[in-house]
Amino acid sequence: MSTKTLPRRNLRPNGRTWPLIIAALIISGGSAKTTTISILATILALRGYKVRVFDFDQQRNLSHIFCGKHLDDAEFPTIWDLMLDTATLEEVSVPARFRVGDGWDDDAFSEIPNLTLVRGSRHVKNFDTVAAAEPERMLMAWFERVCNTYKGDDDLWLLDLPASLSKLSVSTLLPMTEDDEVLPPVLVTNKEEEDLGYTFEELAEMVEHMTTRSRRPAPTIKNIVMCSTPTSQRKGVEYHETVEAIERQYGDHFTLHKIRYTDVIPRQHRLQATVPAFASSSAPMEDYSKLATALGFNDLEPA
Ligand SMILES: Nc1ncnc2c1ncn2[C@@H]1O[C@H](COP(=O)(O)OP(=O)(O)O)[C@@H](O)[C@H]1O
Ligand SMILES: [Mg+2]
Repeated sequence: MSTKTLPRRNLRPNGRTWPLIIAALIISGGSAKTTTISILATILALRGYKVRVFDFDQQRNLSHIFCGKHLDDAEFPTIWDLMLDTATLEEVSVPARFRVGDGWDDDAFSEIPNLTLVRGSRHVKNFDTVAAAEPERMLMAWFERVCNTYKGDDDLWLLDLPASLSKLSVSTLLPMTEDDEVLPPVLVTNKEEEDLGYTFEELAEMVEHMTTRSRRPAPTIKNIVMCSTPTSQRKGVEYHETVEAIERQYGDHFTLHKIRYTDVIPRQHRLQATVPAFASSSAPMEDYSKLATALGFNDLEPA
């Protein structure tokens, strides 16, 4: 008898061939986008979902954390090649890994099961210029093409988007429906409730601008993740005020989630390892695990 648990959330909305999409986006830098995508993706992969993460940032922090940044671009093409349609999704994807030893040989890394990384590229900084110069608008349609031609068995795509609604970000939002999700992470150490407001306004403008007879993008926000919230050891008036401001302004319309401040998270980059690999029972694991469950991704492989 099969004991397979089914996901609570529909991973193929409307019977489409490509998976559910969750995109970390907020119009402000340094607001825990990469952190949220990297930890959430790992937790979901460990729960048995087949996850692919896309690194859209020219700094390639996500690719660094998942140990794909140092790989040779000629041997392992990047997301830029996927955008230009000179490589396939499989060709630009590598297994996500974490560092277990020194050096750059394969045995310095360990694979994270169920998790694939679409490698970032410095060239994505040219996206907007190239897209603007292109009469056929092929580049703007790159992600719609990737979605429409996908036939694989991924359960989820998680996108680590840039801190602006550039043409690059917009191109990824075009195929999104209400089932997909734009997930803004807000670092409460700044007065980021304002950035959240700009993000809402600009998304609405974007939809207006990009709607055609055959397409109406629907980048939808349902949840807001407040990151680095105060703990009993680490208090801060400013942090409390930001949390309260967000609760006041957005609490009625969105589900708010808290990820506590921790000095574990900033270690990810130097250690080249996702938090679950080196601090599996830390506070952020607890908080991001709760978030994963709240988003509808129950454990498919119960212990
Ligand atoms: N819960 C948290 N506790 C402490 N530091 C955090 C937390 N979440 C994120 N950070 C730190 O905040 C900084 C910005 O996060 P990052 O994910 O790189 O942002 P972005 O991708 O939006 O630029 C990083 O140094 C990260 O380690
Ligand atoms: Mg980032």
